Parts: sequence; structure tokens; C-alpha cells
Amino acid sequence: MRKVALLTGVTGQDGAYLSEYLVKKGYTVHGIKRRASSFNTNRIDHLYQDPHQENRNLILHYGDMTDSMNITRIIGDIQPDEIYNLAAQSHVKVSFDTPEYTANVDGLGTLRILEAVRLLKLTDKTRIYQASTSELYGLVQEVPQKETTPFYPRSPYAVAKLYAYWITVNYREAYNMFACNGILFNHESPLRGETFVTRKVTRAVARIALGIQNEVYMGNLSSKRDWGHAKDYIKAMYLILQQDTPDDYVIATGITTTIRDFIKKTFREIGIGIEFSGEGVNETGKIAQINTDLFVEKIGEPYLEAMRKRIGEAVVKVDPEYFRPTEVELLIGDATKARTKLSWEPKYNLDTLIEDMMQNDVKEMKKEAYLKEAGYRILNYFE
Ligand code: NAP
Ligand code: GDD
Repeated sequence: MRKVALLTGVTGQDGAYLSEYLVKKGYTVHGIKRRASSFNTNRIDHLYQDPHQENRNLILHYGDMTDSMNITRIIGDIQPDEIYNLAAQSHVKVSFDTPEYTANVDGLGTLRILEAVRLLKLTDKTRIYQASTSELYGLVQEVPQKETTPFYPRSPYAVAKLYAYWITVNYREAYNMFACNGILFNHESPLRGETFVTRKVTRAVARIALGIQNEVYMGNLSSKRDWGHAKDYIKAMYLILQQDTPDDYVIATGITTTIRDFIKKTFREIGIGIEFSGEGVNETGKIAQINTDLFVEKIGEPYLEAMRKRIGEAVVKVDPEYFRPTEVELLIGDATKARTKLSWEPKYNLDTLIEDMMQNDVKEMKKEAYLKEAGYRILNYFE
């Protein structure tokens, strides 16, 4: 008998990697996708199977975290062994603009899943993974942060996720459900949404090197994040649901880096040295030197001369538009519990993560460069 998993947020970064991982493990994976006016399944298109095919291992259902009846019907129909609740309005800055929607999707959405499992009398069968977050630690009360560190959320997103965290614990205790929180620190990849800081930077650096973007505007350069690779983190999600007893786990690398250093490392990956100077909104990152061999290897000879001419120019600037009303300044996780109890061990470090993201984005942006040369207008994205 194949195991059946239901993934909310199947079209997102983690949903894409996890569905591929579970399909490879022999699961039948059901995913909930939102109706959109244009295609929104590009991250999982490689797993797509014709609906007329028998014994499909990836099946998509229309749905939305704000629609209890829809969620309850889908869970009732497919009777999943495991649910991975990954769907969320996941952008912290956007949550300040859409706080009620974020609370509904990220907070109440989790309740809808738990309550559906309970009402459908699936509590003994269905295990639930809740995508909790290091944003819960917010204004950190302890360094590094672990499972016992008190929470202090700093955004509507984090407050909504706080509700989701506790309602998951409550259903576990009240109804003896196998419901677990993975408290995941930031994890990135070539599939990361384009408006999160790492992907914004890797895309912009590739575009700057290829001459299709002049500079990139950033927010707070001094905040620090503990970044891992999404491919490593989805394995932890799976492991959390394979244990004998339900529990909550921190998943992190234990290394923290400023946004400024992430930008430097990303430029360095393709042979461009950046130096920062100035303070606050006047801080800039200028091109200091070019490692010719590395630049030619990673970007290509045709772009070298134009880049050389830009030495001394500011390519990173600050726009306060990207500041958050309340910021999370420092995140660094202690994943000892996951390493010991789950035997979870990440394969990627920050350098190999950046290498993976840059390889992808240089390739992607070369298509844009080609279109630009052919006379098409290429938009700049500064979100
Ligand atoms: P993501 O790329 O933003 O994906 C979010 C997914 O949720 C997408 O599939 C999105 O659908 C879906 N979604 C959003 N609103 C929905 C709604 N109302 N109804 C149904 N689906 C909806 O996020 P991710 O990086 O994969 O993260 C997965 C989960 O882990 C999220 O809950 C996030 O908050 C949490 N988390 C992420 C990180 C991280 O660093 N990545 C760390 C800790 C926790 P569309 O594709 O249609 O937009
Ligand atoms: N997005 C963005 N854009 N962030 C910027 C920028 C910018 O131009 N400039 C500086 N930053 C800073 C933010 O202020 C924040 O301190 C840090 O970069 C990381 O921002 P994001 O990449 O947007 O991620 P996040 O840490 O706010 O949230 C992500 O990680 C959480 C886990 O800690 C999201 O994936 C959340 O869903 C997740 O829960």
C-alpha cells in the first residue's frame, strides 16, 4: 500500500521539493493549489502527470486555506496518512500590508486542517506537520534559539504563526493527535520566491553582471539570518512525521550572516569584489575589483569589459521602503535536538547554497540578456 500525503502550499518552494522527495519515496502525493488567473505550478510542472493517466503519484486539487469546507472535503476524500501544512502568506513585510488576510491563512488556516482531521475522525490515522518558523523568536530572548526559547513575534506574519504553533500543540495534547511543529529557520534555493532577500540578491547580481540591471536597492543590511538549503530542510519535515511520538523541532544550521555579507559573498561567487561604505540610508556597495578568470568562468568573456568599466561604481544602495516597522535583527538556531533525535544533518552550507542559486540565476538571466540584445524591453524588479 502506497502512503498518501497531502501538501498544502504544494506550488511553493518547500512544496515543490517535498512533493518530489515524497514521490521518489513511493508516496501518492496530493497537493492543494489556488486558482489563479495564470499558471502557478511552474515549480512542480516537472512532476505533472496527465489526469487521464492511471495510478498517478501527484494529484492536484483546487483549494484555499480560507475555505474550511473545501479543506474538509479534500481531506475526507483522500484520507491522508500525512498532512504537511506548508501553505501561507509567507512574506513578513507583506504581512504588515495584509495583516487580516495573513492571520486568516497562516493562523486560522492551520486550525481548519486540525479541526477537519478531528471532525473526520482521522486522528488515529493522519499525522500533521505544521510549518512553524524562526520568526516566532522575533526579538530574541536567547542566543542561539532552541525549542525552549520563549517566543516574541515581531510581525503580523509571526503573530499568525504563533497561533498556528500553539493550536498545533493544543490539538496534540487535547485530542492525542500526531501533530508536530517544525520550527524552521530561513531556507533558500533556486526555487525561492523572487522577493525574499537571498533570491532578490542572486537575481540582481546575475543581472548586474550581465548588464541588464544597473544597481539593486535593499532594506536593512545589518540584520542576520541563519540560512540553509530548502532541499535539506524538507527532509527534516519528513523525518519529524516518521518518529514514534509527536514533537516539535528546531531546524537550523547554527551559523548566522548579515545581509551585507550575503551580498558580498554572492558577488564574490562570480568574481566581483564589493566594498561597503557609508551608514544607514547612505550606505552603498561599490565594485572594488574583478577577478578576471573567475568572472570569465562564471559569466563569460563578452561581459568582462563592460564590468571592468564599472569599477568604483555603487551597485548596492539602500531604499528605506524595504525597512520593516518592526525588524527581526538576529536569528541563529540550535538544532541539536533534530541532529540527535532525527539524525538530521544538512548537506549544504552557505557557500554551496549561493553557488547553487547563482548557477541557476545566471542561466536564467542569460535568457533575459539575450532578449534584451534582440530588442525586447526588460523590466527591473526591485521588490
Ligand atoms: P512559499 O514559497 O511562499 O509558498 C507558500 C505556498 O502557500 C504557495 O504554494 C502558495 O500558493 C500557498 N498559499 C498562499 N496562500 C494560500 C491560500 N490562501 N490558500 C492556499 N494556499 C496558499 O513558502 P515556502 O518558502 O515554501 O514556505 C513554506 C511554509 O514554511 C510557509 O508556511 C512558510 O511560512 C513556512 N516557513 C518558511 C521558511 C523559509 O525560510 N522558506 C522558514 C520557516 C517557515 P501560490 O503559489 O499560489 O502563491
Ligand atoms: N525581502 C527583503 N528584501 N528583505 C530584505 C531586503 C530586501 O530588499 N533588504 C534587507 N532585507 C532583510 C529583511 O529586513 C530581513 O531582516 C532579512 O533581510 C530577511 O528577509 P526575507 O528574506 O524577506 O525573509 P524573512 O527572514 O523576513 O522571512 C523568511 O524566513 C522566515 C523564517 O525565519 C520567510 O521565508 C518567512 O516565511 C519565514 O518564516
